[in-house]
Amino acid sequence: MKNITIKTIGSWKKKSKPFSVITAYDYTSAKIVDDSDIPIVLVGDSASMITYGFSSTLPVSMDEMLLVSRAVSKACSSTFVVGDMPFLSYQPSVSIAIKNAGLLLKKGRAEAVKLEGGVEIKSQIKKIVSSGIPVMGHVGLTPQSVNQLSGHRIQGKDIKSAQKILDDARAVEDAGAFSVVLECVPQNLAKLISDTLTIPTIGIGAGPHCDGQIQVFHDILGLIDGFNPKHAKKYLNLSTDIGKTLNVYSQEVANKKFPQKKHSTSCISDIISSLE
Ligand code: KIV
Repeated sequence: MKNITIKTIGSWKKKSKPFSVITAYDYTSAKIVDDSDIPIVLVGDSASMITYGFSSTLPVSMDEMLLVSRAVSKACSSTFVVGDMPFLSYQPSVSIAIKNAGLLLKKGRAEAVKLEGGVEIKSQIKKIVSSGIPVMGHVGLTPQSVNQLSGHRIQGKDIKSAQKILDDARAVEDAGAFSVVLECVPQNLAKLISDTLTIPTIGIGAGPHCDGQIQVFHDILGLIDGFNPKHAKKYLNLSTDIGKTLNVYSQEVANKKFPQKKHSTSCISDIISSLE
């Protein structure tokens, strides 16, 4: 058992200790996260775009999520791993939801699952939790409903929509989730929800009053050229730096500067001369 558990995560809210969460989709980057101070990693269904090259989170399959979750989990000896449930892996019925949540733990080796929605998936959350699987909720902008929401836009800007988000967050807590992501909601609504709930809220584009924050690995490191979402801070510009480095390598090969002698070995010359 890792040091970080859902109890630990709940205790951070009681102590008013803000915490960070980051996404990861492969072993190497997850290892870097595991060696960092970040306590929680989400194997997000944003893998659909980042790992598999689709244009939204809708196409990624359960099998594709299990592969990335397993790779990330192998790297995380201390970081708490949450596996995201992809589109239609939990919406159709409670039994489908339990089966797929279970697979994320059994095959994906995650320690908890995340799913999108509130009131309408309360029974799925309840049953998954009562099966012994911790659930992280996700309300506000729920990208799996992008077509229903008419795009990736801030939610909760009018009374009806703000009330729905508050009701959804309450439903998620009521169903037994240990935390809830608030995506792209006004910061004063996020504050009200954070003050109302006893479980930690984890914001993305939801302002500073959430109990924790979550960001996409590739957004904060600047790994995707020209993609600058308002909710993300680019701490580095790695796509530019990596592109420049790849060109240096390519030029060095073209100019015969790489490889040098030290980058390979020789066998004794007798061997070469005895070859026919
Ligand atoms: O899949 C994802 O990247 C998410 C975000 C909340 C970070 O769900």
